[in-house]
Amino acid sequence: MAYENIIAEKKGAVGVITLNRPKALNALSAGLIADLGAALDDFESDAEIGCILVTGSEKAFAAGADIKEMAGFSYMDAYKADFITRGWERLAQCRKPVIAAVAGYALGGGCEIAMMCDFILAADTAKFGQPEITIGTIPGAGGTQRLTRFVGKSKAMEMCLTGRMMDAEEAERAGLVSRIIPAAELMDEAMKTAERIAGMSKPAVMMAKESVNRAYETTLAEGVRFERRLFHSTFATADQKEGMAAFIEKRKPAFRDE
Ligand code: HXC
Repeated sequence: MAYENIIAEKKGAVGVITLNRPKALNALSAGLIADLGAALDDFESDAEIGCILVTGSEKAFAAGADIKEMAGFSYMDAYKADFITRGWERLAQCRKPVIAAVAGYALGGGCEIAMMCDFILAADTAKFGQPEITIGTIPGAGGTQRLTRFVGKSKAMEMCLTGRMMDAEEAERAGLVSRIIPAAELMDEAMKTAERIAGMSKPAVMMAKESVNRAYETTLAEGVRFERRLFHSTFATADQKEGMAAFIEKRKPAFRDE
């Protein structure tokens, strides 16, 4: 399907979403967020898609919410539209795995979008920041919450209070990104990672994702109980039988997503 602000492509079992407002460094306008939501709906309902990849350009993953669009907002505009929750959280609610492949700037809402993905692969050119404070506001799509969970209070607080950016190395050291990849290889490597995930049993992948996410929302004891229930339920799947039989027979598994 064709969109105005993104490019959505099906590459085998991987759904690739490229944020595409190059003149505005992929600033996240209402139109872009609507397109992103529609593409996610599409890929989530497509049984062939096993992993989704979200990326931007070489210069910017996304430089934040569209400042020109929101500059004139009144409190009532923001409140009535439930700005920014509606639409943006669609990404965080995705049941299929979503990888962010970040090169260049991931600032403000751009950093928040990346953090809503399941993990971040960063080019060595990536720069992360929550610069909202420099324009008289604060993060509004989970930045103060998710960044703090990723990197701890001290670094999150410093970034949110000063607007300082983190480069890829600092982001990896702090646990914000899973890996740094040379910029020229980012998309190849991200595709390989996405294809690897898409080749697993889809229900098992969704359960693993759900279980890891529980770690953010509950106590250790509750989380471990939740994990055990899902783990037990995998023994009711054909894919568990196939996966273990394939290991014993020294062959590749042929998962049926059942
Ligand atoms: C609208 C933006 C934009 C943004 C860049 N542009 N960021 N337009 N919203 N967030 C536009 C510029 O106006 C300019 O358009 C063009 O993109 C190129 O940007 P430059 O500034 O000329 O590029 P450069 O000098 O390379 O600087 C790059 C940059 C800078 C450091 C990323 O653009 C910047 O600081 N951007 C704003 C970052 C920011 O504050 N983000 C947080 C937004 S608030 P023209 O037409 O002039 O050429 C936010 C709140 C989230 O995200 C709340 C919940 C969602």
